[in-house]
Amino acid sequence: MNSYPVSPLIEDIIQVENLTKTIDNGSNRVEILRGLTFAIPRGEFVAIMGASGSGKSTLLGLMAGLDTATSGRIILDGIDITNLGEDKLARVRGTKIGFVFQAYQLVPTLTAEENVLLPAELTGAGGDIEHRARELLERVGLGNRGHHYPVQLSGGEQQRVAVARAFITRPPILMADEPTGNLDSVNGAHILELLLELNREEKTTLVLVTHDQQIAGQADRVVALRDGSIVSDTRSARAVEA
Ligand SMILES: Nc1ncnc2c1ncn2[C@@H]1O[C@H](COP(=O)(O)OP(=O)(O)O)[C@@H](O)[C@H]1O
Ligand SMILES: [Mg+2]
Repeated sequence: MNSYPVSPLIEDIIQVENLTKTIDNGSNRVEILRGLTFAIPRGEFVAIMGASGSGKSTLLGLMAGLDTATSGRIILDGIDITNLGEDKLARVRGTKIGFVFQAYQLVPTLTAEENVLLPAELTGAGGDIEHRARELLERVGLGNRGHHYPVQLSGGEQQRVAVARAFITRPPILMADEPTGNLDSVNGAHILELLLELNREEKTTLVLVTHDQQIAGQADRVVALRDGSIVSDTRSARAVEA
């Protein structure tokens, strides 16, 4: 049983309020995020852009509950995750968020299919998850590679496994940190296409960190960071019309 209330009436699936992250290592104090406030409506595709070092990965990690804020609040699907204990946080992460990393981060000792199944096993997701894992692998074009290990797959194929893994629990939010950053343009375009298709089919909210103008051009909205602050937040004409 999911012990958290489903909140279909909350329109903003992600709410970020006055978020700061400061790292203090003795003499050095680095303000990585300087008080960000924004909200992401359910179903939106948001691209987060900005130069290297502007705070994109830190922001995404905080929103995914992988890191803790210095101050401010993060509310995911109505749940304030800011001060949740590790057990509850793990549960929110497991049920609310799928994550795709730049460097795939598959478990090398597990097959493609076992990698896809892992988040569902960790959260005890119900239903025929083996069937869904095989369907997702088919969906990303790897129906015949389920028993292969990561080392037997190309970078593009590994990232497709990572995309299937991110969707196994049907998360309402999909976050991706430069998911095409390690891929050539053909494989990168394929990964983006898969994220967009699955995003539409599964009605997830997509938050994607990217350097790529072409990718950002397909988003409903682009949030730009500079030195830990939001310097622009723009919705595309297409999103405004919709
Ligand atoms: N653990 C840390 N200790 C010190 N500085 C950090 C740490 N994590 C990130 N930073 C610094 O914070 C800034 C933002 O990092 P990051 O969020 O990774 O940026 P981006 O993803 O936009 O490249 C960078 O200047 C980085 O060096
Ligand atoms: Mg980064």
